[in-house]
Amino acid sequence: MFISAASGAVGSIACQIAKIKGCHVVGSAGSEENVEWLLDDVKVDYAFNYKTVGENNISSELKMGCPEGIDLYFDNVGGKHLEATIDNMKALGRIVLCGMISQYNNTIPPIGPSNLFLAVTNRIRLEGFIVRDHYDLLTEFHSSMTKLINEGKTKWKETIAEGLENAPRAFIGLFKGENFGKMIIKVGQSSDEK
Ligand SMILES: NC(=O)c1ccc[n+]([C@@H]2O[C@H](COP(=O)([O-])OP(=O)(O)OC[C@H]3O[C@@H](n4cnc5c(N)ncnc54)[C@H](OP(=O)(O)O)[C@@H]3O)[C@@H](O)[C@H]2O)c1
Repeated sequence: MFISAASGAVGSIACQIAKIKGCHVVGSAGSEENVEWLLDDVKVDYAFNYKTVGENNISSELKMGCPEGIDLYFDNVGGKHLEATIDNMKALGRIVLCGMISQYNNTIPPIGPSNLFLAVTNRIRLEGFIVRDHYDLLTEFHSSMTKLINEGKTKWKETIAEGLENAPRAFIGLFKGENFGKMIIKVGQSSDEK
């Protein structure tokens, strides 16, 4: 299984659930610190820094991480990550389209994956995923996640910005890799709590 933006809030939990389910997990992230955390703490099987390898070499990294091909891709990034993954998907593989963070600030419409015909020949299924479609599973999710957290089986990171006045800067930072894990804005703290 491949998970992009693997050190982010969504990606890091997806990696850990996939490992618990017994998958061989490969993750991508945008700094050496994030890659080290994925390997050492999250315990993915292979991780790479998409910035230093360059977007044209993501496909070869995936070949190293998944020499037999990819069964399942959890896509948080879109763009070149998606294209490189389509190159490496096994027949009948599945791609979960959770987000496309590399595309959100495009000022012109992006060109789609140039290799989409491989989805035909390899019978790959691409399906959008929106969390609110699955609220019927929320209670079950809360209880299984709470158990994992209480047992110390999950790791997560948070970046905390203090004060509502810093929210715009924190939001823009999401697209520049300035956060490590969930970006949180801390507001309304009374002076005796500080
Ligand atoms: N479908 C849904 O229901 C749902 C719900 C929540 C979130 N999402 C989506 O899930 C994705 C992750 O969200 P999150 O809450 O986990 O956010 P997050 O904690 O901010 O993680 C996102 C990560 O994306 C990476 N990133 C930023 N720009 C990038 C780029 N140009 N190319 C590649 N990676 C880039 C950054 O990691 P590095 O610094 O390591 O590059 C960042 O830490 C987003 O696409 C978001 O829109 C979907």
